[in-house]
Amino acid sequence: MGILAKRSEDKHIVDTVFTMVKKANDAKLKFGEDNVIDVTIGSLCDENGKFTIFDSVSDVYKNLDKMDIAPYAESFIGNNDYLREMKSWVLGEHEEKFNVGAIATPGGSGSVSSTLKNILDPEEILLIPNIGWGPYKIMAKEHDLKIETYELFNEKNEFNIESFREKSSKIMKSQGKVLAIINDPCHNPTGYSMTASEWENVVKIMNDLSKDGNFILLNDIAYIDYAVKGYKGSRKYMEIFTNLSPKNLVVFAFSCSKTLTKYGLRVGGSVFISNEKKNIDDYMRANEFTCRGIWSNVPKGGMKLFSTIQGDEILRGKLIEERGSYIKLLEKRSKIFLEEAEEIGLEVYPYKEGFFITLKIEDEKIVENLEKLNQENIYPIQVAHGIRIAICGSPSKKLVGLAKKIKNIID
Ligand SMILES: Cc1ncc(COP(=O)(O)O)c(C=O)c1O
Repeated sequence: MGILAKRSEDKHIVDTVFTMVKKANDAKLKFGEDNVIDVTIGSLCDENGKFTIFDSVSDVYKNLDKMDIAPYAESFIGNNDYLREMKSWVLGEHEEKFNVGAIATPGGSGSVSSTLKNILDPEEILLIPNIGWGPYKIMAKEHDLKIETYELFNEKNEFNIESFREKSSKIMKSQGKVLAIINDPCHNPTGYSMTASEWENVVKIMNDLSKDGNFILLNDIAYIDYAVKGYKGSRKYMEIFTNLSPKNLVVFAFSCSKTLTKYGLRVGGSVFISNEKKNIDDYMRANEFTCRGIWSNVPKGGMKLFSTIQGDEILRGKLIEERGSYIKLLEKRSKIFLEEAEEIGLEVYPYKEGFFITLKIEDEKIVENLEKLNQENIYPIQVAHGIRIAICGSPSKKLVGLAKKIKNIID
């Protein structure tokens, strides 16, 4: 017998990201920055490859009162002004249409993890996309859950509603409840964003299945503020949730990491909606307990930063403008890569917007292709069913000609 609980014995992280980042950094030291294409970096960088820090955010943080930073938050679930402003930011004009609850969490990660914990019991099944953010699986294991995946895309490169329906109904039959994750818009790692009619179909499935149990949808909106459609356009689909069966709940996992480029502040939250007030009260009660039972409270200064910006029209406008220039930059970078990829027939998943583009690669060829790319000083990241190119962290000049190079290397 060792020191660990049985449930912790086989928990260890295999981090493919940090290994590749290190390889890229070693190559830069050896061959010089200009001779290495580093598309590992998952954070936003400017055209000089420098980590982006929004001035419109840092200026506000610098001027916060010490008492807005040092003490504990007002409550375990977060500061009142933060909760108010987060609800308003996430739901926009739709806020009044539902019963709404909110808690602050350490980043979007805290929101996803606490949702898994409070919706499913150990050994139950969580439904996630077959291509997605790696930590969903780690969090599921942390809470002793099993995983089932739906195919994210159909052969027409659309959201695979048939697979979503099939897997959801199988789980509803076996456990009388479904918790499914969707990461929309600006899906990580493909850059896909769903259409309004795809969202309508998701809600229809949730409602159809709710005759046999509760359907809880976790929409991870970590990248929502990078949607090309802008603030209002990117939230338009939320209108569809007015048709949600009262048995159902939607949790939005919100993150200040990308919205404010403040990854290290660890501020995010769950905003949850339902057409049945009891669902909100129950979910709130359990989550309040989780806040106290796991992380106690979220950094006060980070919450104050967000609520100060969101609550002030001028500050909010400055942030939207500054972030807007990066949305344009992402569009420019994606065009460079995608136009070339199309020209030479390099297959990618359907990118619409956001931080990442992913190459379609057969599973058994991923590792081999990565090695070949590394030999030519190109450093992308391995993901499920593909290879991820982080256009967010790579200056445009490094993306010119990249698709062609990759195609030549992996062919
Ligand atoms: C898809 C997705 N969801 C959630 C997060 C959560 O980030 P954080 O915990 O920093 O808010 C990330 C961060 O990389 C992400 O890519």
